[in-house]
Amino acid sequence: MTREDLTKLLADMTLSEKIGQLVQIPGFLIEKGSVLTGPALEMGFTEENLYNVGATLSILSFDRIKEIQDEFMAHQPHHIPMLFMADIINGYRSVFPIPLAQGCSFDPELSGELAAMSAKESAANGLHVTFSPMVDLVRDARWGRVMESTGEDTYLNARFAEEIVKGYQGNDISDAQSVAACVKHFAAYGAPEGGRDYNTVELSERTLRDDYLPAYHAAVDAGVEMVMTSFNTIDRIPATGNEAIMRKLLRDEWGFNGTLISDWAAINELITNGVAEDEMEAAELAIRAGVDMDMCTPVYASCLQKLVEEGRIEERLIDESCMRILELKNKLGLFEDPYHHAQEADVTKVVLCDAHRALCRKAAEESVVLLKNKKDILPLSKVGMNIAFIGPYVDAHRLYGVWSMLGREEDTVSVKEGVEAIDQENTCTFSKGCRLLDPKFPLYGFRGQETEEDTDDEELLLDAVIKAKKADVVVMCLGEHPCHSGEAGSRGNIRLPKPQRKLIKEIAKVNSNIVTIIFHGRPLDIRGIDKRSRAVMAAWFPGIEGGNAIARLLFGDAEPSGRLAMSFPYSIGQVPVHYDCFTTGREFSGDVTNRFQSKYLDIPNQPLYAFGHGLSYTTFDYVSVTLSNDVVRDGAPITLDVKIKNIGKRAGVEVVQLYIRDLKGSVVRPVKKLKGFERVALESGEEKTVSFVIDKEMLKFTRADMSYDAENGAFYAYVGSNSRTERHVSFTLADS
Ligand code: BGC
Repeated sequence: MTREDLTKLLADMTLSEKIGQLVQIPGFLIEKGSVLTGPALEMGFTEENLYNVGATLSILSFDRIKEIQDEFMAHQPHHIPMLFMADIINGYRSVFPIPLAQGCSFDPELSGELAAMSAKESAANGLHVTFSPMVDLVRDARWGRVMESTGEDTYLNARFAEEIVKGYQGNDISDAQSVAACVKHFAAYGAPEGGRDYNTVELSERTLRDDYLPAYHAAVDAGVEMVMTSFNTIDRIPATGNEAIMRKLLRDEWGFNGTLISDWAAINELITNGVAEDEMEAAELAIRAGVDMDMCTPVYASCLQKLVEEGRIEERLIDESCMRILELKNKLGLFEDPYHHAQEADVTKVVLCDAHRALCRKAAEESVVLLKNKKDILPLSKVGMNIAFIGPYVDAHRLYGVWSMLGREEDTVSVKEGVEAIDQENTCTFSKGCRLLDPKFPLYGFRGQETEEDTDDEELLLDAVIKAKKADVVVMCLGEHPCHSGEAGSRGNIRLPKPQRKLIKEIAKVNSNIVTIIFHGRPLDIRGIDKRSRAVMAAWFPGIEGGNAIARLLFGDAEPSGRLAMSFPYSIGQVPVHYDCFTTGREFSGDVTNRFQSKYLDIPNQPLYAFGHGLSYTTFDYVSVTLSNDVVRDGAPITLDVKIKNIGKRAGVEVVQLYIRDLKGSVVRPVKKLKGFERVALESGEEKTVSFVIDKEMLKFTRADMSYDAENGAFYAYVGSNSRTERHVSFTLADS
C-alpha cells in the first residue's frame, strides 16, 4: 500500500477499530497451551475487543497462525491482518548460544548471521516480529536476565545490537526470510537494585546516557522496527509512562518512528507502581508517553475510547499510534500477503538444516571461554588416556537456556554424544555423579516446579569416584539449571547447587587432574570450583550443538577464542562489579596494611576473571603498539597499529582489545572504556598488524554541564588481551 492508501484506510476506521490495532492479546487467549511469559491477569477482554486486536504473541506454528489470521481478518471490518510476534531469543529450532555467550564471542557479525538464520526459521513458520535483541547493559550477576544481554560493556553491546537488528531485518522486512526486530527493554532494565527482577532502577542521567543508552540507540540507528518499554522506573517514573524517555528522547531526539510496545502488562503495572490511580489513568499516561501497543492487558482496549470521549486525550494520539502499526504491517507486506510468504516455505528444508546446525556449532565454539588452563592440561590427547566425564551435565540435553521456546532435547547434542563423535583412541567413561539441583531448594520455572528424577545419591557418587580414581583426567560437567536464570531468575547466591559443590570436592580427593566445564546463564562465584580445577571452561548455555562444540574444544579440533563479556565476580559481595569503574579519591595501592583506601577488608577489589579475559591454546606476543600521531584533532583522527605474533605451536584466535582512558575530565572518567576490538586468526609463527582509528567522536561523554562532547587533554590507549591490560601509549586531544 502507498502512504496515501494507508491514510485513507485510517480515515475510514472507527475509533474502536483504531484502538483495536493498539492491542496485543496473549496467545493463550486464542490457543490453549501457548507460552505464558508474564502474569495471567484477569484479562477482561470483551468478545468485541478481542476480535478487533492488532497483534498476538507466542503462537509458534504456521498452521495455527494461518487459521487465526484467516479467522481474525474475516472478522476485522477492514480485513486488516494481525501481527504475530514471539520471543525468539536464541534461535527458533536451530538454537544457538544464549546472548551472553554470544557476547563472549566478540563477534557481532556472527550474531548477525545467527539472527538472520533465526529470522529465516521464524518467518518460515509464520512469525512477523521477534522480541529481540535485548541490549540491556548488565553489571549485576544476581539478575537472572543477564543471560539475555550481550554483557557489561557499552560499546560491545552497541556493536551486537546493530548487527543483530540487521540480521533479523535483512534488506527488507517484507522478504520471506526476514522478521521485524524489537529492541528491549527501553530503558535501563538491566540495572535493577540488588539484582532483583522488576525492581527499581536508580541511575544518574549521565550514567544512563553514557553507559546504558548507546546500545538501544545503535539499534534505532540500525533501523529497528520496534522498541519495547521496560518494567522499571527511570528517575522514579516507570518507563512505560515516561514521556521524557519515550517521546522526547526516543522519538524527538533519536528520530525513532517505528512502533513502541509496552512490556507484558506494564501499562497495568503503572497502577501497582503507584503512578496511576486506575486503568483510565494508566492508559492516559502510556498513550501520552507514546506507547503504541498494549501488551497483554485490556487497559487500552477498555479505556482509550472513554478517554477520547471524555476529552482527556485527543484522538490524534490514537491515530498516530494506529498509523505506526499499520505502517509496520505494510512494511512487512501483510496487506498483500497476510502470511508473509510463509505459505510457500518448505519448513522441513529450512528448520534444523545442516547449514543451520553448522552455524550453531560455530557460534558455540566461539562463545565458550577458557578461563584457566594450568600447565596446558588442555587440549586433551586423543590417544592412550583414560578420561572420566563426571557431573549432571555429562549427558544433559537441556543446553539451550530458559528462553528457548522451541529448543528440544531431542535436537540437542549432549557432551557425552559430542565426545563419542570424536575420532579418538581413549578410554572414556561417563558418570552423572550427583543431581543437578539441591532438593532442599525447589526451583520454579516458566511451567511450574522443575523436577528431577529421584536418584540414589550415594550410588551416583560412588560410581563417579570409582571412575575418577582410574582416570588420567576428569572432566567435570557442572552447572546451573536453565531456570536459575532468565526472567524472574534472580539469585542472592550465585554458586552452583550444593550437590555439585560436594561432588567436585569428593572427586578432587581422588584425582587432581580436573578440567571443569560449567553450563550457566550468568557469571558465577566459582572460587571452590576454580581452586580444584586445572582448567575451567565457561560454556554458558551453548545451544543444540553444545556437546559437539565442547568436545571439539576439549580435544583441540577447535580453538577456544571466547572472551568474557561480563566479569566473573570474586564473590557475591563485589557485585555489581565491572571493569569500567571510576577512579576514586582513595585508590587502593595494594598495601593492605593501609586501612583508609577504597578496598574490602576480606576480598580483593578485582573480580576473579575480568571482562575481556579468555585464554587460547597458543600464546600471542604483542610485538609493538604505535600511533600514527600523538595528537587527535577534530576531523583529524589518528591510527593505532598493534603488531601481534602467534609464538605458540598451534594456530589460534586472539581478540585484540583497545581501551581508552581519559586522564582528566570535568566529571570523573572511567578507568578504561572499550573502544575497539578485533578477532585475529593466526597460524603458529604468524604475525599480523591490527589497526584502530582513534577519533574525537569516541572520546565524547556527557560533561559537567550535560553537553555531549570531548574535552582536550591527555589520554591513554590501552591494548591487550583483556580489560586488565596495562600496556598503553599516550596521546592528546587538541583544538584543530
Ligand atoms: C518480558 C519480555 C518479553 C515479553 C513477551 C515479558 O515478561 O519481560 O522480555 O518479550 O514478556 O513474552
